[in-house]
Amino acid sequence: MNYNIAVVAGDGIGPDVTDEAIRAMNKIGEKFGHTFNFTHVLAGGAAIDATGECLPDETLETCKASDAVLLGAVGGPKWDPQPAENRPERALLGLRKGLGLYANLRPAMIFEELADASPLKSEIVGSGLDIMICRELTGGIYFGKRGTDETENGKGAYDVEYYSEMEIKRIAKVAFELAMKRNKRVTSVDKSNVLESSRLWRKTVAEVAEDYPEVDLDNFYVDNASMQLIRDPKHFDVLLTTNMFGDILSDEASQITGSIGMLPSASLGDGSFGMYEPVHGSAPDIAGTGKANPIATILSAAMMLRYSFGLKEEADAIENAVKEFLKQGYRTADLCHGAPEAVSTTEAGELIASFI
Ligand code: IPM
Ligand code: MG
Repeated sequence: MNYNIAVVAGDGIGPDVTDEAIRAMNKIGEKFGHTFNFTHVLAGGAAIDATGECLPDETLETCKASDAVLLGAVGGPKWDPQPAENRPERALLGLRKGLGLYANLRPAMIFEELADASPLKSEIVGSGLDIMICRELTGGIYFGKRGTDETENGKGAYDVEYYSEMEIKRIAKVAFELAMKRNKRVTSVDKSNVLESSRLWRKTVAEVAEDYPEVDLDNFYVDNASMQLIRDPKHFDVLLTTNMFGDILSDEASQITGSIGMLPSASLGDGSFGMYEPVHGSAPDIAGTGKANPIATILSAAMMLRYSFGLKEEADAIENAVKEFLKQGYRTADLCHGAPEAVSTTEAGELIASFI
């Protein structure tokens, strides 16, 4: 088959890691007889430098016309002076919203080969960990009303957390569908002891749960959830939550697995189209140094094959190649505290491709 993929390499280590994901996909193409056509488009800081705008219309149009999007990372201190509406991060939010990608799946897994990279004691993580974070991605406080005003106490600023039933229902459905294919437990995370929007969240999630009698639903307040992730991470199967809580808890969960450099993500909407990106950011301090771990992006490519293209065997082939790389003892700088034997970004990408 023929697939058209828009590539937003972005800033910092974005181009370093997307190159390696493309290498892995090309190897899959050769091996399984598919053609992946990659079209590079600009967003984030790179787009600001080239066009003045963080998300040029052309980028959104090319992404919409593609079968899927591969994204590296956007942002960096260079663009801090940009006005709020033209910061590189806005490009990411604009892509998610503009492409209707309301469901963000962030699997937090510990690879057996990396069990001792987790900062948690082995009696807590046991033989492994496998949590699927299902984060709402186009609503809540990141997209609510915002503004500034003048008060008698000086300047004020606000951002509104707002959710409609429709938005909660559709993300809850995604979480329950995922749970049905996994261990049939959904933990919904909110702050309904304080927030009105969370009370609607909890009530609506409970309604959706009625359609999934086989799935166990429990509800945690976000402060408790952040504690339980450390105390008893095995409690979680699918963790369903809002945009902001999901942003925060997914970074926490990633660290439990040992390195944020390992975690992929998929952003999905109603159809098969999706955008795939590592959970980590642009790490401008190590851009181009060979220290970036390309595995999160390579695994994001595997998620693309699985979720957007339905290519299960091909996705397995990438994941198995990553496991082989780890099993043979290869480590990128993040996984071995920068020890001299660390392999570079490109070497890691080449090795992984060779194991496909
Ligand atoms: C993430 C990032 C983004 C987010 C930023 C860069 C806008 O932190 O994907 O988790 O908050 O969603
Ligand atoms: Mg984040």
